[in-house]
Amino acid sequence: MKKLTIVIDGPAGAGKSTVSQRLAKRLHYLYLDTGALYRAIALAAHEKNIPPTDFQEIRWLCQRTSILFKKEKGKQKVYLNRKDVTRAIRTPHMSLLASRYSKLPVVRKGLLWHQRHLGEQGGIVAEGRDLGTVVFPKAELKFFLVASLKERAKRRYLELKRTDKKSSLKNVEKEIQKRDREDRQRALAPLKKAKDAIEIDTTWMTIDQVVEEMYKKFQDKIHENYCS
Ligand code: DC
Repeated sequence: MKKLTIVIDGPAGAGKSTVSQRLAKRLHYLYLDTGALYRAIALAAHEKNIPPTDFQEIRWLCQRTSILFKKEKGKQKVYLNRKDVTRAIRTPHMSLLASRYSKLPVVRKGLLWHQRHLGEQGGIVAEGRDLGTVVFPKAELKFFLVASLKERAKRRYLELKRTDKKSSLKNVEKEIQKRDREDRQRALAPLKKAKDAIEIDTTWMTIDQVVEEMYKKFQDKIHENYCS
């Protein structure tokens, strides 16, 4: 059976990561977290003190940096130049830096081939911001997840609270609002719903309900491909 390319775009906290991983597991597809690539580049630039204004150095950095995903004990780990940065890239500070560095054409260009290379065989569930519009415009199945700002902030806060005791709900809401603005307003590949994407508002839905709805759309698509 032909393996599809499935993309899931949407703003921070809309539930992309959890549902993408669940859907990938259910379909035995590869899971690709494209946000982790932007976070890793931002961390590399930050560690080397390269500001977002130094395009030349950032271009070099993108060319020389290795970012790998490895599955260990059922969990996906992110390696930056062979160092495990799975946790280091998830802090609120790195979220803002990732949003900031991801605006740069050199970074987007550098990561575009990387993402396409990882997804070239199909059989992938990829999550991000511009996957349905720019990275995989021909993906067979596109989803765009949304949720209210309050709900997204609550989810992110509960997630962060496990590791960062200092974070407050108010600050998390502000950070998400700021990131939304930066991700939507950037000139290049902004967060935008593709015309042929299926929008799902997850505000009042459980994870299982969202995955179930996506799975149904997947079955419809497979049926469409084989019966037409
Ligand atoms: O999905 P995330 O929160 O881990 O993404 C971190 C940042 O990376 C996000 O604010 C914008 C950027 N990003 C992007 O520009 N394009 C993508 N496909 C994925 C993430």
